[in-house]
Amino acid sequence: MAEKRSSFSGKLGFVLATAGSAVGLGNIWRFPYLAAKYGGGIFLLVYLILAVTFGFALMCAEIAIGRKTGVSAIGAYKKLDKRFSFIGILAAIVPMIILPYYSVIGGWIIKYLSVFVTGNMANAATDGYFESFIAQPTEPIGWFMLFMGLTALIVLFGVEKGIEKVSKIMMPVLVVLTVFIAVYSMCMPGAFEGVLYYITPDFSKFSATTVLSAMGQLFYSMSLAMGIMITYGSYMKKDVNIESSVKQIELFDTGIAFFAGLMIVPAVFAFSGGDESALGKGPGLMFITLPKVFESMTGGSIVGAVFFILVLFAALTSSISLMETVVSIFMDKFGWNRKLTCILVFLFCVALGLPSSLGFGVLSDITIMNFSFLDFFDFISNSVLMPIVAFLTCIFVGYVIKPKTLTDEIESSGQFKRKKMFVVIIKYIAPVCIILILVSSILDAMGIAKI
Ligand code: PHE
Repeated sequence: MAEKRSSFSGKLGFVLATAGSAVGLGNIWRFPYLAAKYGGGIFLLVYLILAVTFGFALMCAEIAIGRKTGVSAIGAYKKLDKRFSFIGILAAIVPMIILPYYSVIGGWIIKYLSVFVTGNMANAATDGYFESFIAQPTEPIGWFMLFMGLTALIVLFGVEKGIEKVSKIMMPVLVVLTVFIAVYSMCMPGAFEGVLYYITPDFSKFSATTVLSAMGQLFYSMSLAMGIMITYGSYMKKDVNIESSVKQIELFDTGIAFFAGLMIVPAVFAFSGGDESALGKGPGLMFITLPKVFESMTGGSIVGAVFFILVLFAALTSSISLMETVVSIFMDKFGWNRKLTCILVFLFCVALGLPSSLGFGVLSDITIMNFSFLDFFDFISNSVLMPIVAFLTCIFVGYVIKPKTLTDEIESSGQFKRKKMFVVIIKYIAPVCIILILVSSILDAMGIAKI
């Protein structure tokens, strides 16, 4: 017999767990880089406007779908309209693709944390250290399995005793650590120039690309279009106010992203003597540049260790949301129990994560469309499937079940102040913008053009 459906204990648990999903590597290694690249303050402003309009509407929609139906993605779309259960299936595929490679990166984070904690920072700061670490066949797999195992263990404890409990500890700690490092980094000699660079609007760098990149980042950062918000919404109590929860989650997500910029941009600036090209995105920034920056700081080994704890917490709360989404889909669909499902999902992810991990060493000769395995999974999930699912969701809500179905759900637990805006965005604005994101990221990946 299927287990009784779990739920978060109340609003705080829901908000912290969902913010935990939203705050992740995207906030720390992608947001600061994008802000620096696309004109500092102007990017921040565009991002903020998009977050309170576009991101707000999409997040409300997904959470309301989850809470209304009380099931995870596949079942939710099916329950609302049988003909459209394929959207749920597509949404469910996204976390299954992301979780394995996200965990490979999670493994690298634990490795770096262990390097800093054991006082070996100088090694991590040497040229070629990262490249030779990820090229090894076995060590990264060990760390990857450790990260995956930790994620699985938390998910095994369930929604309230696992995810909610862990989020209630990790998220406040994460905020404190982020602010601490940001202040420390801004106090470094030469850092002020970096602060100005980050917050001053540079209108010459403003273009359609600024808006599209901000929108793409917003999607990823708010964990939209992959069934996560539907799943978490299905665990939300009926009396918790959706609109105000979403506002708080956004504040968390955008606030941490902003502080991550204050933490990283000034430090890299001070280190590189104002050379903005040192601010590369992704793994290069986190695992190559930052260790060198920490090495140049007084007390750098402590700051570095604190930084990797913070990143680990951010990554873990995101990976548990990915895993919970996959686990709940199988539990809902087949009526399996949580333990069995966790074990099976763990094994599946280990198998699918192996090529991503080995893709920088043993399997480095094999590429797909010029991507390494890890980058390919990232591209397919984030740049192709997520926009497709988001587009279909808007059409489904706007024209098939009609926005009223969801606004009624949202209003069942309080006033919905931005209802009109919600309807206009879901029906008209979001579908057009999402198609633009999809086309531009595919053209970009194919090296054809950049909008
Ligand atoms: N939202 C997370 C971030 O900003 C990333 C994430 C993506 C988390 C997909 C879960 C699923 O990094």
